[in-house]
Amino acid sequence: MTKKYFVTSALPYANGPIHLGHMLEHIQSDIYVRFLRDMGHDVIYVCGDDCHGTPVMIKAGSLGITPEEMITRTRADHYEDLKGFLISYDNYYQTHSPENEEFSDYIYNCAREKGFIVKKKISQLFDPDRKMFLPDRFVKGTCPKCGAHDQYGDNCEVCGATYAPTELKDAYSTVSGITPVLMDSEHYFFNLPKAEEFLHDYIRNHGVLEKEMANKLEEWFLQGLKEWDISRDAPYFGFKIPDADNKYFYVWLDAPIGYFASLKNYCVQHNLNYQDYIKKDADSIMIHFIGKDILYFHSLFWPAILKNADFKVPDHIFVHGYVTVNGTKMSKSKGTFIKAKTFLKYLKPETLRYYFASKMNSSAVDIDLSLDDFVAKVNSDIVGKIVNLASRTQGFIHKRFSGKLAPCAYEPKMYEKIAVIKEAVIASYEKRNYAEVIRLVSALSDEANRYIDNMAPWVIAKEEDSDDKLLGVCTDGLNLFAALITYLKPILPNLAKDAEDFLNTTLHLNTVDKPLFSHEIHKFKPLFSRIEKATIDDMIEASKEDLKEEAKKNETPPKEQELQGDNAFEPLSDEITIDDFMKIDLRVGTIVTAEEVPTANKLLKLCVDLGFEKRQVFAGIKAAYKDVQSLVGRKVVVVANLKPRKMKFGLSEGMVTAAGPGGTEVYLLSVDSGAKNGDRIH
Ligand code: 2FM
Ligand code: ZN
Repeated sequence: MTKKYFVTSALPYANGPIHLGHMLEHIQSDIYVRFLRDMGHDVIYVCGDDCHGTPVMIKAGSLGITPEEMITRTRADHYEDLKGFLISYDNYYQTHSPENEEFSDYIYNCAREKGFIVKKKISQLFDPDRKMFLPDRFVKGTCPKCGAHDQYGDNCEVCGATYAPTELKDAYSTVSGITPVLMDSEHYFFNLPKAEEFLHDYIRNHGVLEKEMANKLEEWFLQGLKEWDISRDAPYFGFKIPDADNKYFYVWLDAPIGYFASLKNYCVQHNLNYQDYIKKDADSIMIHFIGKDILYFHSLFWPAILKNADFKVPDHIFVHGYVTVNGTKMSKSKGTFIKAKTFLKYLKPETLRYYFASKMNSSAVDIDLSLDDFVAKVNSDIVGKIVNLASRTQGFIHKRFSGKLAPCAYEPKMYEKIAVIKEAVIASYEKRNYAEVIRLVSALSDEANRYIDNMAPWVIAKEEDSDDKLLGVCTDGLNLFAALITYLKPILPNLAKDAEDFLNTTLHLNTVDKPLFSHEIHKFKPLFSRIEKATIDDMIEASKEDLKEEAKKNETPPKEQELQGDNAFEPLSDEITIDDFMKIDLRVGTIVTAEEVPTANKLLKLCVDLGFEKRQVFAGIKAAYKDVQSLVGRKVVVVANLKPRKMKFGLSEGMVTAAGPGGTEVYLLSVDSGAKNGDRIH
């Protein structure tokens, strides 16, 4: 019976490129969707970019463009990559859209009317220079547990500790580099605990999640659900909360609503009623494919807000693990953080689709892309077994039988073998156990190749009166090839398309057991080529280059700590002209007073006489100059035309130049006697 499906993949953030980590999910969902479509179901499959939030706003700012411009570019770029991997969305939209704003307002208003919205004052770190509250990821500092420097505001990558950003030592804003301050603000919360009873039943009794994930959620119920902060203060790139003054919806409020926006945008263009897929009592099946890191949002917040607004709640949430490469986390420095674009420059998309599929099932375990195994598997399975079956039998059909297949099988038993796995293949696709599909198909391809090896058509061709036998055996070989391709069609859609052109037919799972007899085939073109090891090496090298490019683009602004910083080495900056250099106005000055700043661990407050005026400068040299008074009277080199910087302690009106890696190793530049205050340095 035909069913109505609404399927989604998680919406990629609009602040970075698509990489192989994303591709696991999009490939997994695309295979499922292609399978459903092949079985004749009515499927709408959507995705789009997740556009809102501080990172997008900051990145656009650093590129000197508006967030709107950035998300437009990024969406086109993401879509190109995802299409490159043959992901067959019906619509790839974006959360920054009128449909999404309308749905978000509606869903929020329903929550408010049902008493699910509460307001509370909270205290958060604020960047006084940029006049913005700082999300945890935009605060860095020293880990309160192990003392590691430059750790994010939420957890330490060195010791694994989690903490509040306010617990960091020597915290600084990664946006401006200055020390953040605590500030109060009123926030809007969704009362998740109020939905606890509904959610618990939803998770436990309706087959939404695999057991492993449902059990994970059980832990969260035991800890007690928490109210969810759905608001953010300006400046923020997002939708304004309708009844609030200058507050925005938190990106995670409108992100999943973006699924509906993409659906509606598609339905309106195709004269369909989107409500048929999402209204409360719709007889449709709503499925989200997600990674395990976003389970909380999808299985708790999302159904809770949907229920209030009388929408359907997800029927299934299919959760996958992470991608590792060669057994470890994707690493930029090892070149294993591979962007979709880089992969596609070197390799066919189907190589990755096949390899991921060969390891995928319904569990959320991580999937390793072992590059040697990847090369071996693609070469041996796709090229060596499947395509080879066609290439070594088709020639005889063309040369000896004018491209027409036999009227019947030579060995009917081989056709039984095709039929015997049909139900198991279908059941495996249904369970997203693609690894099992590939095991079944591999076993069949082994049998088919054994059959051709044993029959040896190249020997039959030399025997007398062997036409019927030769035609029959080669027809069997090509029908076996057709069946293998049909079974793999959701995984290898381009190969299937090329095989269909060659076989002069269309292939469907439902009719996989109906062989082609007395049927004309077309000319054969090479269908797939081997992967060379050198290609993988080139791709890894190119990924390392990508990293360098990315690092250049993402350079963070100077931070206080860098003045004392513990960077041992700094790469040479880009070449400049003498005119560029002349833009920096370096002057000789004399330190007239030097004092400690009680609330700053690393700064000294200096007063420097530049001859024509005196300047106040905060310098991160405290650790290196313990005898503060020894600095008084010392001649220094000052960057005199640096834009004054407002710091927590006061205005810093220039910079005193120094060399050295930081900490206690900071060395002020000296000036030979004779130079006068205010002299320019050329
Ligand atoms: O984790 C992420 O990459 C999010 N952008 C996923 C959002 S999925 C959905 F909720 F929009
Ligand atoms: Zn730590």
